Amino acid sequence: MDTRVISTKNQAEAGTNLGAELIKSGEIVAFPTETVYGLGANGFDEAAVQKIFEAKGRPNDNPLILHVAKKSDVKELWAHVPKSANLLMDTFWPGPLTLIFNRSDKIPDAVTAGLDTVAVRMPQDKTARMLIQKAGVPIAAPSANLSGSPSPTKAEHVLSDLGGKIPLILDGGDCRVGVESTVLSLVGRPTILRPGAVTHEMLEAVIGEVRIADCVLSPMKEGATALSPGMKYKHYAPKARVKVVCGEPKNVARRILELYVQNNIRGVVCEIAATEQTRQFYRGKNYVIMGDRQDPATLCKNLFSTLRELDERCDLILAEGTDTKDSGLAFMNRLLRAAGFEIEKV
Ligand code: TXA
Ligand code: MG
Repeated sequence: MDTRVISTKNQAEAGTNLGAELIKSGEIVAFPTETVYGLGANGFDEAAVQKIFEAKGRPNDNPLILHVAKKSDVKELWAHVPKSANLLMDTFWPGPLTLIFNRSDKIPDAVTAGLDTVAVRMPQDKTARMLIQKAGVPIAAPSANLSGSPSPTKAEHVLSDLGGKIPLILDGGDCRVGVESTVLSLVGRPTILRPGAVTHEMLEAVIGEVRIADCVLSPMKEGATALSPGMKYKHYAPKARVKVVCGEPKNVARRILELYVQNNIRGVVCEIAATEQTRQFYRGKNYVIMGDRQDPATLCKNLFSTLRELDERCDLILAEGTDTKDSGLAFMNRLLRAAGFEIEKV
């Protein structure tokens, strides 16, 4: 199959028209959102949704998020709309917050992987909303990467993972946020299943106490039931080994340099995923600055593209960990998974 790439910078109308036609005819289309690129299908069309799982190589028991163009669309997707959801939608939609609640019976099992809940989000990205509006249905969409690899934040990432497998990629340039949406379950006590740019602190300011699922910063225990099935899979992992070092920036840099030299002697090609605060320590070494520790949103924005870029040219990525305040929680959640939880504290 030929994969067409259409830039939405100058062809937003034509691109979204074609995308909507494809979605209506049961095809799958990659499109930009403010978080990461999505791979979308008509959320009411079971056969179309199956194509997403096939193209990504995604396990069938991992449910999808339905993307809507307006808040009132949740009424036909959920059993009812809880009060907390109304508050959260008014504050954070459109934007990088996914809400989970009891599903209505309109939704095919393929979307929810048989669960009795469904995840919904209204993206902020204009192209995404235009596409959903024109398609006239909620769009079921996971991230547009091969299952297990780092999520795509540029159209070229989608092309490299899914080129030849899908008919169309809408190219909206670099994603603003760079990590996937916050996933918040409103079934029972509000619980963050996946942290994102809408932070724990921001959510608590609107609805009071919000829990953070255990699996956000630690591996799923063997045999435990996953609140969010996505948590139990290997995630965001490049082919290179990733090792995370956490602590005071100066100590982190010292330890990373030690590991860098030790590994180089053994012929292991290393790259350092660093921060602004430690740049000065790495002169003469292979390194990339992901962002600023004082502004963890910058770390999130560049994390996945850095992992993909470094993967091309090394065997071992030595990555700096940070604290978990604000967007630091989303950053560490993704980084630890990319590293298979290989972490050293100094
Ligand atoms: O930012 C995003 O959310 C992106 C863009 C494309 O919108 N989408 C995305 O989808 O990240 P995906 O499929 O890669 O991640 C969805 C996560 C998975 O961890 C999945 O297990 C979880 O949400 N999820 C979906 N429905 C759920 C449900 N009913 N209960 C619990 N977890 C659910
Ligand atoms: Mg994903």
